[in-house]
Amino acid sequence: MSRVVFLNGTFLPLQDAKVSVMDRGFLFADGIYEGYGVLDGHLVDTEGHLARLERSLDGVRIANPYSRTEWIEAMNGLIHRNSMREGFLYLQVTRGEAERDFFFPDGVAPTVAMFTQAKSIVDAPAAETGIAVVSVPDLRWKRRDIKSLSLLAQVLAKQAAREAGAGEAWMVEDGYVTEGGSSSAFIITRDGNLVVRPLSHAILPGITRQSMLRFVEETGTGIEERLFTLEEAYDAAEAFLTSASNFVLPIVTIDGRSIGDGRPGARTRRLRELYIQAARASAGVA
Ligand code: PDD
Repeated sequence: MSRVVFLNGTFLPLQDAKVSVMDRGFLFADGIYEGYGVLDGHLVDTEGHLARLERSLDGVRIANPYSRTEWIEAMNGLIHRNSMREGFLYLQVTRGEAERDFFFPDGVAPTVAMFTQAKSIVDAPAAETGIAVVSVPDLRWKRRDIKSLSLLAQVLAKQAAREAGAGEAWMVEDGYVTEGGSSSAFIITRDGNLVVRPLSHAILPGITRQSMLRFVEETGTGIEERLFTLEEAYDAAEAFLTSASNFVLPIVTIDGRSIGDGRPGARTRRLRELYIQAARASAGVA
């Protein structure tokens, strides 16, 4: 059976869902997106992602086409129609279809599209082995806190990582790590402190980051919210990333240098367990 997607208020088979060549998402990347983890058939961190969706729409001045209840109903409808148990739910909103012109079009409804991608997150092999990361320059625009559709810099960064045999790219600006190509970046120092970059326009406010930070104290780890360099990362006891599509994922090498003993760190593993437990417990609670 074909995957069912959501397009402008209608559920339909993927092959029947068509968007115009004149859609501003296609022509200008004029739109924003959001991505949810799905666990046990339920959305994870629902409220956090909805809040960021509203923030991103405000940031690019697209009127939110739906209420929170309507968003949740549409997303749950999609999960249900695809019998989805675990994976990723992607949604995007563009400024809509209009003759190509830079100015905002008048009286045009936004285009809303959503689809699911089934995938094992909890039993992902990478969670056991950890992944390699390589560093790349951060080439993005200056409002990275908005989850914009414009991802060319990340596409190039992540492809460079793949070609170097790595699973993620860490982007670097002015000597400091900003974040991963599609994830938030963390290190744990040899003194046992978690170091994470403070929120600003320079990075996306990760929803998994925000939820995961609640459990850090339970692992006996202190938090230092500050910038960190690649050299500090090379020297760290542990490193990991967070994202809706991976939860908490250990990093075992950065630019070919082993982190700690080159295996997923104990604190990282514990944080992953705590995050998954909490996600299971709260799944579906909006
Ligand atoms: N990416 N930073 C960037 C640049 C991201 O693209 C993402 C998410 C994150 C983590 O945010 P969250 O924990 O809310 O997923 C940080 C998604 C998963 C993606 O683009 O596929």
